[in-house]
Amino acid sequence: MDDAKEEIRARLPVEDVVGQYIELKRAGRSLKGRSPWGVDKTPSFMVSPEKGIWHDFSANKGGDIFTFVMEVEGISFREALEKLAAQAGVELKRYAGGDRKVAERKKRVREVLELACRYYQFCLTKNQRICDYVFKKRGMNRGTVQEFRIGYAPQDGQALVRLLTKRGYKKEEMEAAGVLNRFGGDLFRGRMMVPFIDVGGVIGFTARVIDQGEPKYLNTPETLLFNKGRFVFGLAQAKEAIRKNGFVVIVEGNMDVISSHQAGVREAVATSGTAMTENHLKALSRLTVDVRLAYDGDEAGVRATERAIMMAGDLGVNLEVISDYHGAKDPDELIQCDPELWKEAVQKHRPAVDWLLDKYEENLDLNSGAGKREYSDVAMKLLRYVRDAVERKHYEQLVARKLDCSVEDLRAKRVDTGARKRLKKVTTTALPDYLKGMRDDLEALMVYGGVTGIHGVEVAQDETRLKELELIFEARYKGWAPEALEQEAQALLKRYKQEMNRRAVEELQERLAEAEAKGDEREAEEILRQIMALKRA
Ligand code: UTP
Ligand code: MN
Repeated sequence: MDDAKEEIRARLPVEDVVGQYIELKRAGRSLKGRSPWGVDKTPSFMVSPEKGIWHDFSANKGGDIFTFVMEVEGISFREALEKLAAQAGVELKRYAGGDRKVAERKKRVREVLELACRYYQFCLTKNQRICDYVFKKRGMNRGTVQEFRIGYAPQDGQALVRLLTKRGYKKEEMEAAGVLNRFGGDLFRGRMMVPFIDVGGVIGFTARVIDQGEPKYLNTPETLLFNKGRFVFGLAQAKEAIRKNGFVVIVEGNMDVISSHQAGVREAVATSGTAMTENHLKALSRLTVDVRLAYDGDEAGVRATERAIMMAGDLGVNLEVISDYHGAKDPDELIQCDPELWKEAVQKHRPAVDWLLDKYEENLDLNSGAGKREYSDVAMKLLRYVRDAVERKHYEQLVARKLDCSVEDLRAKRVDTGARKRLKKVTTTALPDYLKGMRDDLEALMVYGGVTGIHGVEVAQDETRLKELELIFEARYKGWAPEALEQEAQALLKRYKQEMNRRAVEELQERLAEAEAKGDEREAEEILRQIMALKRA
């Protein structure tokens, strides 16, 4: 594996790989461009051909060609490796070693799914009923049917199994692809087939009954290729538009994605048959920080939006809500009515926090004491997830005005356990970008600025990281006097420690609340002691 990596690195200059996505201009020994994550106003993306690395000073990310492709495409290391290996003409199999069996098996399973998809696409052209459904009832055009590879699984019950057997695939391989039922026959019968497609091709299907029936959608089970907690439906088709236009629209249903693309809003994606996870959001946040949710305005939509907010802060995502459907049930229905209305709706987004605060108000009487208490409970709980202090203050003032009290009153509240339970923290491990940036600068000062006396910050020793730190140092601190470097490092260290402390305290407070809710006094006391110790530090 390491050999393959080195071979690929040697063949693909970093500026060529990055240059496929960003326009680069020479600036001395480096190249400069605009951040592909769209957060910079001036070029803040640097590539060092000599060192074979890149660094994005606005998004605080960096690394080598593999991490670049992972980040920009939102894919795993393995997928990036495969993609770059193909570009470099490096045969990965030679290097597969222990993974060889797994890789070979995955390849066979992908073949099974690709064949199945093509077969379903063929069957669609031969069946009048499905054509009526797809083209007339659902209003798809030919281009859409081709792009999303829509197909039809015949009623037969053995047709796919027969075809795959004839092509030399074993039952066990079909099983692994997730296309068999428990009797060893075709899982999908008489349904409209919509493939799940990732960078490597088809990885599964979602299948809709034609007109009425149960279940409405039948999905491939989780397989070694399909993981519903990670897969983002439509991303393969939407990626380019998302990157180009700088935003993504998350809709609820797969059919909403397809209709949206046809209507010209090609930034739409969905999580398939599951709630949004941190992995989904993380993959999207690599492409853009402008994330617009187009969920239902019902209770489930409110919960889903709350969950998203809890994850958004740590990922540096700016969450917006699209909600003006003109009375339609979902984007698909709105588009069937008038595609232009959907285009307008996508531009009429508002911050998710504002939208939620309005939702909280809907069923409460803010003239009553109890109404004010309940509203402030959920509102303050929500605002804890607004990371930026200025932004949080803005909302606190808004809530205070609404309740006719002061921000101090709100902050003095102890949020009751009911509200706490409702907005349970979804823990994220990732450091937020601004902290990552501080950390990068600190390490760069330690390694290349000769600054000593920094304790509690370990420097990673791998080569790519060291080169990245060198690039950061040269870009930020070249020519600074030793004393200035020393001062900068001390100031940074202080802020970094304060922030890490604040995060630790927040986490402990969360645990404290849980311990109190459970009535575990000893645990609560212990946590309280830790909090006090941190606050004194
Ligand atoms: P909806 O019932 O809102 O589907 O479920 P939809 O997209 O509007 O479907 P149409 O327009 O009636 O064809 C939203 C999502 O929930 C999942 C699917 O991912 C669907 O896209 N779902 C729904 C299932 O997985 N299974 C089901 O039986 C129903
Ligand atoms: Mn629908």
